[in-house]
Amino acid sequence: MPAPARGYDLVVVANRLPVDVTVSEDGEPSWTRSPGGLVTALAPVMAKADGAWVGWGGAPDQELDPFEVDGTELVPVPLSAEEIERFYEGFSNDTLWPLYHDVISAPAFHRQWWDAYQRVNKRFADAAAEQAAQGATVWVHDYQLQLVPKMLRDQRPDLRIGYFHHIPFPPLELFAQLPWRRQVVEGLLGADLVGFQRVGDAGNFVRTVRRLTDLTTRGQVVTITRDGKVERHVRAAAFPISIDSGAFDELARTDAVKARAREIRRELGDPRTLLLGVDRLDYTKGIRHRIKAYGELLEDGRLSAQDTTLVQVASPSRENVDAYAQLRDEVELLVGRINGDFGQVGHAPVQYLHQSFPMEEMAALYLAADVMLVTALRDGMNLVAKEYVAARSDDRGALVLSEFTGAADELTGAVLVNPHDIDGTKDAISYAVHMDPRESRKRMRRLRRRVLGHDVNAWSQEFLAALAAVPQRAAGASHD
Ligand code: F6P
Repeated sequence: MPAPARGYDLVVVANRLPVDVTVSEDGEPSWTRSPGGLVTALAPVMAKADGAWVGWGGAPDQELDPFEVDGTELVPVPLSAEEIERFYEGFSNDTLWPLYHDVISAPAFHRQWWDAYQRVNKRFADAAAEQAAQGATVWVHDYQLQLVPKMLRDQRPDLRIGYFHHIPFPPLELFAQLPWRRQVVEGLLGADLVGFQRVGDAGNFVRTVRRLTDLTTRGQVVTITRDGKVERHVRAAAFPISIDSGAFDELARTDAVKARAREIRRELGDPRTLLLGVDRLDYTKGIRHRIKAYGELLEDGRLSAQDTTLVQVASPSRENVDAYAQLRDEVELLVGRINGDFGQVGHAPVQYLHQSFPMEEMAALYLAADVMLVTALRDGMNLVAKEYVAARSDDRGALVLSEFTGAADELTGAVLVNPHDIDGTKDAISYAVHMDPRESRKRMRRLRRRVLGHDVNAWSQEFLAALAAVPQRAAGASHD
């Protein structure tokens, strides 16, 4: 496909648009901004560049023309109800998601889902090819769109293509279960730069390339050859994502948020210890392990049921996928049991909220909590851990953090746990609750140095600079 007469210099391709689009009965679209990290990350970059964002509007069968928001062209990609079922809920979230998260839940492999995945990836690639100017940069995001880099390069070899993988990339021994493993690897190798959260993820990918293809790799670099000649290079490297730390820090310093934090504690009956968990209701997050450990601490009397509250925010997610519906039942049963066994009239030791809250309320919760519990069984990064730290300009509070999160590589001031080890998790929670204030201050300062020193803007700049630095087409074999 030739470049369009008037194209964009930077095109972001992500499963979702940065807004949720609703269409009124008379066909008029309106939108609300989605508060996701990626949107915040890319807003400054998009504002500076002549940019377009290709993505799905969040509802079935939306055939909408591109529209502009804050200087960025938003290009909706339609998905039918059947494609939402097979591409989004099916292949993306019931095949790839569990497979890439250590098969915590068994991945389902269905050929019809794979067909839909290919079809939808092609639609995204076509839409991006239509928007990109000659020689433009296209930045593809995440596991829903792993075939897009190759599909795009086949049509538009003039483009510079980056791909960032937001979730873990599994070891070959797990990835090899995927019946379409070779096509997925080839899809990703269509990019010039493949970014991951952790050094270990990039390592898993390069090892997979080595074992599943005939290509040669040297360190982070894969060399693509055609007819024995070097065609180009692909770099795989770690770019740990972050949050808009400065903005979060500022928000949590406002009088309104501070007052709300005090009010939350009052409303909870001024507990001596307030523990907090904040997650999408997802089986990767270790919510059951955390609540089980907490329940046992109450049972053992190591935490007082009268004086302690665990607030667990579990925001609704992917509710049409069976594993998620089942998890909800299990978590709610567990919460009910603990509150039944250890509650009193007027006090429930677990405050369970199956809801999403605005950023201001989240900042107040972080500020109110003595100990933040992040016990994911596997997590690409975990931005909640970073938000908690960014909110604590008072240098107080403690973070219990699973070693199976990307964040654990950076946030060394946290109390690290293996959430599968319930006794170890109980000890870590108890240690954090009873931590000497001097120690917790020292740890929090260390955490804040990292989170405030490396924000999401730095992340996107580093990725785009590395993408610009990848040597593009090898002229003959000259720079092998
Ligand atoms: O962590 C991966 C991710 O796709 C995020 O980008 C996103 O915020 C979250 O999972 C929820 O995704 P969705 O609601 O689109 O399935």
